[in-house]
Amino acid sequence: MTSTQTAAIILAAGMGTRMKSSLPKVLHEVAGRAMIGHILDQLDEIACDRKVVVLGAGADAVAKVVAPVPTAVQDPPLGTADAVLAARREMADFDGDVLILFGDTPLLTAATMERIAARRRAADDPAVVVLGFQPEDAAAYGRLVQGADGSLQAIVEYSEATPEQRAIKLCNAGIMAVDGKRLFALLDAVGNDNAKGEYYLTDIVAIARGQGYGCAVAVVDDEREVIGVNARGELAIAEAVMQSRLRNRAMADGATLRDPDTTYFSHDTKLGRDVVIGPQVVFGPGVTVGDGVDIRAFCHIEGADIATGAIIGPFARLRPGARIGTDVHIGNFVEIKQASIETGAKVNHLSYIGDARVGARANVGAGTITCNYDGFFKAHTDIGAGAFIGSNTALVAPVAVGDGAITGAGSVITRDVPADALGLERNGQTQKDGWAAKFRSRRKAEKEAADTPRQMAAGRNTATARNKES
Ligand code: UD1
Ligand code: MG
Repeated sequence: MTSTQTAAIILAAGMGTRMKSSLPKVLHEVAGRAMIGHILDQLDEIACDRKVVVLGAGADAVAKVVAPVPTAVQDPPLGTADAVLAARREMADFDGDVLILFGDTPLLTAATMERIAARRRAADDPAVVVLGFQPEDAAAYGRLVQGADGSLQAIVEYSEATPEQRAIKLCNAGIMAVDGKRLFALLDAVGNDNAKGEYYLTDIVAIARGQGYGCAVAVVDDEREVIGVNARGELAIAEAVMQSRLRNRAMADGATLRDPDTTYFSHDTKLGRDVVIGPQVVFGPGVTVGDGVDIRAFCHIEGADIATGAIIGPFARLRPGARIGTDVHIGNFVEIKQASIETGAKVNHLSYIGDARVGARANVGAGTITCNYDGFFKAHTDIGAGAFIGSNTALVAPVAVGDGAITGAGSVITRDVPADALGLERNGQTQKDGWAAKFRSRRKAEKEAADTPRQMAAGRNTATARNKES
């Protein structure tokens, strides 16, 4: 093995108690992806030869999310140095550079990972490179103690720091690049004689210095990149920062966001060119949008494919399995689920289309409902090309309406309608000339008769009240 290889150990065994959650901390989502998933995605962008995620006992849910990345178990969690030691077996025979990352810093970028790895490989061969940052509020972060030459002398945890050390602005972001040949020997020398009784990873800096090795700091430019999520407030900040990144990327790639601060993306939203997105649009995971699509205000879209030139919304909901074809129009208060709407078809008002196909250029009238579920099973509705579904049609699945067929408004369609036929289900209309006018005059007279005694009584009461006042 050559020393140019890079491995990553991602620590995720902490209890995350400050989240007050039954979900492991690193599975809390930012832009629709578990925090730990963001770290792994960024690692995929750098040449990383080996990865291990360190988990607490029973964190099977986390192991499932990170699979096939191997995991090591730290039980019980005795501190960050102890957590890295839990990965010793997976790192056996590795003598390259080891990145140590935290599962709770979801905004860290591949570029920064590369930067500290590159610093590790510089000619002065530092044993440990620590990512430093200058938070506006240094709070309880570990402080980086530097020598006069700027080299790193030690990291002092906040709970151990003297008032002078607490005044240091440069803090430990928690990310390190360590020479793999020395890492485990340094960790073996870490003790737990400190305020928390924990084995602090941060102690390896002073230990390395004591053994005559150099240590260095690489400073991150934007402190927001290394936000550590320990509680829900920080989770919300991480989400906001990630959203702002995703919005900027969408605009840089050629989408118009009418009100960027109100567009919410998923980590994996894919937009074509010249997509226009109105205010208050939310993308869940798994959405692909083709070129020139117009998504109007107040839409909620997840697990959907939208082809070129489609118009969506305002107020549309596309659920998983919605496949919206070229130039299709989906209008207000329309919900589409597990259905394919083919080229040029229109579903413009107040409809639910689920488990269905709507053929090319078909027109689905206002208030059409596919009755796809009987409480036990889902069934399919098929609407042929060029069909015209009258307003307020209930299509009781399984059912098919043939190409070019028409259904009459208000029909409950339970049998297949052949191509080019009319499917109509409706009682004959009864008509009584003059009935409404007669009804109104009769009821008006009845109302007047009922109101007269009441008005007289009210008149008496007013007179009594006036007498009392005088
Ligand atoms: C740590 C650093 C601190 C730094 C800060 C940056 C140490 C001792 N302190 O403090 O200098 O400024 O991060 O955010 O390293 N973990 C384990 N096993 C454990 C303990 C923690 O796997 O026994 C994991 C956690 O799941 C988490 C990460 O390590 O992903 C950091 O732990 P956390 O408790 O958040 O450390 P901080 O107090 O934030
Ligand atoms: Mg933390």
